[in-house]
Amino acid sequence: MKKERTMKKYTVMMSLGVALMSTALHLNAQTMTGSAESGKQAYFKNGCWGCHGFVGQGGIAGPKLAPEPKPIEYIQAFVRHTKGPMPPYSEKILSNQELVDIHAYLKSIQKGPDYKSIPLLN
Ligand code: HEC
Repeated sequence: MKKERTMKKYTVMMSLGVALMSTALHLNAQTMTGSAESGKQAYFKNGCWGCHGFVGQGGIAGPKLAPEPKPIEYIQAFVRHTKGPMPPYSEKILSNQELVDIHAYLKSIQKGPDYKSIPLLN
């Protein structure tokens, strides 16, 4: 009987620990997991495409973002604090989760084929 209660206490403490740990992780964008699908929506909703192109190819008003986007830490620091020609986006406008999702979307963009593999261009 006593052993059972101790086990129960242990289980409660363990789940509390796990809950606290996951909350802590969620506050940290670097450890969040992104969804490319939601990221695509956020990328369009927030107008990133207007300057960086539909697939982040750049060349409109902003530079190329994809394929092979820079790390999330860089993107986060830039998007939040830029004082250059790009308007900064605060967390009120664009949440950390949306930013992580946008990164996932940019990562999901495939490189075009190498021109050397296209007979017409060789
Ligand atoms: C009004 C046009 C405009 C919009 C809208 C815009 N950007 Fe930009 N972005 C720029 C320009 C211009 C630069 C280059 C500015 C600089 O170097 O200071 C830039 C730079 C960046 C960079 C740094 C690129 C690098 O390689 O250093 C990132 C990351 C970025 N933008 C992400 C975004 C995201 C994500 C969004 C949408 C939430 C967005 N931008 C919306 C114009 C825009």
